[in-house]
Order: sequence, then structure tokens, then C-alpha cells
Amino acid sequence: MVSRYVYGKMIETESVLNKPEKTEGVLPYFKVNETEMTFSYDMGEKDKVYGLGENVRGINKRGWIYESKCSDQMNHHEDTRALYAGHNFFVVSGRELFGIYIDYPGILTFDVGYTCYSEFKITASDWNLDVYVITGSDIRDIVKQFRRLIGRSYIAPLWGFGYGQCRWSYMTADEVREVARRHRELDIPLDSVYLDIDYMERYKDFTINEETFPDFEKFVEEMKEQHIHLVPIIDAGVKQEEGYSVYEEGLEKGYFCTREDGTPFVGAVWPGKALFPDMLNPEARDWFGNQYRFLLDKGIEGFWNDMNEPAVFYTEESLEAAIEEISGMRGQNLDLDKFWHFKDLVQRLSGNENDYTKFYHNMNGEKIRHDRVHNLYGYNMTRAAHDAFERLEPEKRILMYSRSSFIGMHRYGGLWQGDNKAWWSHLLMNLKMMPSLNMCGFLFTGADIGGFGTDSTEDLVMRWLELGIYTPLMRNHAAMGTRKHEVYQFENTEGFRHVIRMRYRLIPYIYSEYMKAVLNDDMMFRPLAFDYPEDELASEVEDQLMVGDGMMIAPVYTQNATGRCVYFPEKMKLVRFTKEGEQQEEIISAGYHYIHIGLTDVVFFIRPDHLIPLSSGGQYMDEVDFENLSFVSYLIHGAKYEYYHDNGYEKDYENPDHIRVIELEA
Ligand code: GLC
Repeated sequence: MVSRYVYGKMIETESVLNKPEKTEGVLPYFKVNETEMTFSYDMGEKDKVYGLGENVRGINKRGWIYESKCSDQMNHHEDTRALYAGHNFFVVSGRELFGIYIDYPGILTFDVGYTCYSEFKITASDWNLDVYVITGSDIRDIVKQFRRLIGRSYIAPLWGFGYGQCRWSYMTADEVREVARRHRELDIPLDSVYLDIDYMERYKDFTINEETFPDFEKFVEEMKEQHIHLVPIIDAGVKQEEGYSVYEEGLEKGYFCTREDGTPFVGAVWPGKALFPDMLNPEARDWFGNQYRFLLDKGIEGFWNDMNEPAVFYTEESLEAAIEEISGMRGQNLDLDKFWHFKDLVQRLSGNENDYTKFYHNMNGEKIRHDRVHNLYGYNMTRAAHDAFERLEPEKRILMYSRSSFIGMHRYGGLWQGDNKAWWSHLLMNLKMMPSLNMCGFLFTGADIGGFGTDSTEDLVMRWLELGIYTPLMRNHAAMGTRKHEVYQFENTEGFRHVIRMRYRLIPYIYSEYMKAVLNDDMMFRPLAFDYPEDELASEVEDQLMVGDGMMIAPVYTQNATGRCVYFPEKMKLVRFTKEGEQQEEIISAGYHYIHIGLTDVVFFIRPDHLIPLSSGGQYMDEVDFENLSFVSYLIHGAKYEYYHDNGYEKDYENPDHIRVIELEA
């Protein structure tokens, strides 16, 4: 059951499509303090809190403080409070069971037993919000009801599930060719190569550097002949430069965010000074969306939207003030406080909250200061793209995912989990984020495999791929200046080939489970606690997941480990695929077991009376045969599997012919 409680008058976010009538009376579960603008819940000792989408820390969010404040977080750690998203949905499970969604476009704080272990306190930055309370028979049921409210999740084209290789940046077409060539030569499957900001002419959206990427259209075609899609990045900020048509047209039409006095707001991002399209103004959004045509017309079929929190490195005035103050420090003895202040002056320039109070949106004729709607920006950039794709390429599924997001954006694109590091802890974080993102409707997601911001290692890339083979988005990415970590940079070619190939063998299952999760408003990745609610040990497992109907995974996330402890809530079958081509199976009883998982082993577990369909693989998605399947199964009485398969490109998702029931007898 869903109830909606209304406080003040919220600025419409359009995250909820199917709004129930407002409920009169007192909000259940939480104490409301209007003066302090807080909601507090008294948590029982064993209460757990799930959800909040993209955030650091556990599957159970208890014990930390999180903020919904979309932020460019190049250096996030365990103590980071806000990542790139505003995902205000959670479920409390313990003494009571309920879900809450706070529909609110500004900044919210979720203190989940951080200040006081027994208190869950939510603080809003103004008192205009809707609170949805959802009750149901179990957590999954609550999630489904929530997902029904917010509408169906985005569906990617089949090739978007293939392995993708990215780096900031492949500087020339020849470098991209080299990436493609090395994969094909080594028989390592690949479906896409990404173009980071350097394909553009001086970081100008919707331009191409003709010197480094000559005859782009032909190049796109040449790659497609090899079954490789090029996926360019699009940044939120539009370079301020005379003669640049996107800038000039946007300016002339009044489509950029403005300062209070109506002059355009200028902030710096990659190209230096840039203007920010007013993604919250429907006309400006349409206009920005139409710009994607430039690349669609060149044969591009997928994009990633970046820097759309929006990231602002500095404004002219904040930079000026900092330089002024720093100049005054010349010749001074900078003691501890002064030196720290000096460092702060530069560090605090980027993503500065003050800058977000300096510009305005035009929302259907109403002038709204950015900070009040901050979390809607990236969401609406992605919506701009999606709506344009519907207009310009209505028949096609276009790959689209974003860095910043808000609930509602899940209808328009997926997301990648931002600028992680080549840390083992971030591999685990990738795993932990999957179910909380699924709860919020984000099914097409994955993290930068191998880690983005620091030097990676062969074993980390291998282990990360062993998780990535299950995540809908499977992309290897690394930052400028870091060690190259395309898989062919390392020795163990046979191992990488095997692991990536397993993605293509498993894709009938992964794709089928993804599509069913989308179409049934369900979760593809679930904590064990959701499937085994009565099992206390299962409810504490933070490093294993249920994937789809019948599979459990337990990736290795420790360097030099050749196995790990795995918790089995019930008897399951272990299946191991080795790089030598062997398939080993073993029945494991319920409880804790140490499982050997060699560096290149692909290991997963099957629940009793379940099956996993497998293909024979392929070098790219279009080569995979989804019809002639083999199965791995654990049969006691027999298994029945609902197999979803369409051609991966058309949009007749609901066609009943796409579902086939596969039965295996014991
Ligand atoms: C941002 C993105 C990253 C990209 C870089 C350069 O940091 O998150 O993925 O490589 O910008 O465009």
C-alpha cells in the first residue's frame, strides 16, 4: 500500500508518474519536526536500512550519514557523504517493515544512526516535499510497489551489454583502431570502444576533432563493420566561444542558465569557461537533445552523459577572490592554520555550494534558483537525450547512461558508478551498490572495471571482470595519467579471454533476467537478506548477491586470495568454469564454506531446482546464438525457467512471444 503525505508545495520533479491522492493525517513511523525540517525514526537494535541508491558503504546503510547532493566526486572514500546522485528511497526492515520515498529536488541528509545509533534522522533543506510511505508483504514487494510508481526502467540495446573498452582518452582514430585490433587478434570479445573528451575539438560538445578523427562518419562505419560501436561522451557544460554554433544558438535563444540579473552564468569545466544549458526548461531541453543528432547522423548509437551534477570547477569571481587572497599570502610565514587555509582556498573552488546559489532556471516561466533543484540537473540532461532519441530515432534503442542522476532518470538511461579508484575496496563497493541502485530503478549499471583513478594491476582487473560479467554495463575504464589497463596490456591473455568470454556465454541469462526485472519492476541484484528474510546470518552478508532467478555470486575482492568464505543460506550447486575449458560442479551444503576460486576461475552457485541458460559465446553480441542453449542446473525435482529473449534492438518489449518456458526434469 502506498500513501502520500504532503508538506508545503514541492517543486515538481516528475520522478513519480502515478501519484496517489494525498493522504490526510499523521505520517506513520517518523516523528516530524517542521521547525527543524526533520523526520526521525527510532530504530530498534536489529533494524536494517536498505536503499539510497548510489552511495558508499554497506548494503545495510546503518551507521553512516549520507547526503542527496549530486556531486563530482573524483576522490570518494568510505567517508564520502554524497556521490553523484539523489536517490531518496529506502526500506527499513526489523521491528517494522516499510519503505519511504522523499520526492524532493534539493539537498537532503540521511543520518542513519551516525549521530545517534538508535536514531534515523532525515533533514531537508526546505519544507516543500512529498513523502511516500509504502508497506507490503516483504522488501521485494515494497520495492516493486515503489518501482510501479516511478515507471519502467530504461532498456539498453543488446550490444550495450557487450564488453566495452574505455580510456581517458584514446587520442586518435588510430588508437581506437588499435584497441579494436588487439581484442580481435587475441580473440577477446568486444562490442564497444568509448570516446572520451579528446575526440572533440577543444572539449566542445557536438564537434569532432577533424585532425585526430578525420572522416568520422566513415570511421564509425569501419568500426561497425568489425561489430564495434563507438560511444562518445557528452558533457553538460557548453564552451563559451564565439563562432561555436551550439554556444551562439543557445545564447541567442536564452537556453542557458542565468544569473539573477538575467546574464548567462559562466562556470569552468574541461574547456575552461562554459555555459550550462537549462535542462529544466522544456524548450531548452528539446534544443539540447536535438544536438545529439550531429552524432546520430554520423552513425553513433550510444552515448554517456558526464559532468552533469553539474560539475563546476570554478567561477570567475570565486577564482578571482581566491587568487586575491593567495596573493596576499606572499612572503608571509604560513603556519599550520594559514597553510591549511591556503590549500583550502584552491580545493574548495570546485563544486562549491555558493556557486550553486548563483544561477537560475526557467521552469515553465518560473525563475528558480539552482540549489533548490540541484539534484534534477543530470536527470534532465539525460531526459533531453532520451526524448530526442525518441523523436529522431524512434525505432532504435540507443545506449545512454549518465554520471549524475535522480529517481525518474531511470526511465531515460542507465548510470555508471562514477570515478572510482583501482582499489580492491571499490570492487566490493561496486557489488554493494548494485542492489541499492536496483531498488531505485537503475538496472542498467556497472562501475569502471579495473578502477578509474589510480594505477591498476593485472589481478585487480581480472577479479573485477569476474564481477563485471554479471553487471548489465560491463566497461573497462581508466583515467588520464594512470597505468593502461586494457586486458591486452597484461600477460594472462588466456585468463582474460576466458573470463570475458564467460560474459558472452552467460548473456542469455543476464539479458533475460535484466529484461524480466525491467518488465516486472523487479530487482535483478538482491542482497541475500531479501531472498532469505528468516535467515539472520544471510541478512548480514555484504559481499555476495543473488543475481536473477536462480544464481548467487560471491566474487573475490582481496588481492592474492585464491578463494574466500561463502555463506550458503541453503544447499546449492557450485559451478566452476576454468580457463582450461573444464566445467566442474559440486553440491555444497548450507552454512559457511571456504571456496577455492583461482585467479581465472568463473564460479557461481545455483539454487535447487533452478537452471542457467548458456550460449556457446561469441566475439560480439550479434554473434551470440540465443536459441541453441546449453544449461547448467541444480535439479532435485526439476526446474522451470522463464526465458526472455527478443532481438535486442526492437522495442516491442511486452510481446508474449519473447517469453519461453524452459523445463528440465530431474
Ligand atoms: C569524468 C568522468 C570520467 C571521464 C573524465 C574525462 O571524470 O567521470 O569517466 O573519463 O571525466 O572526461
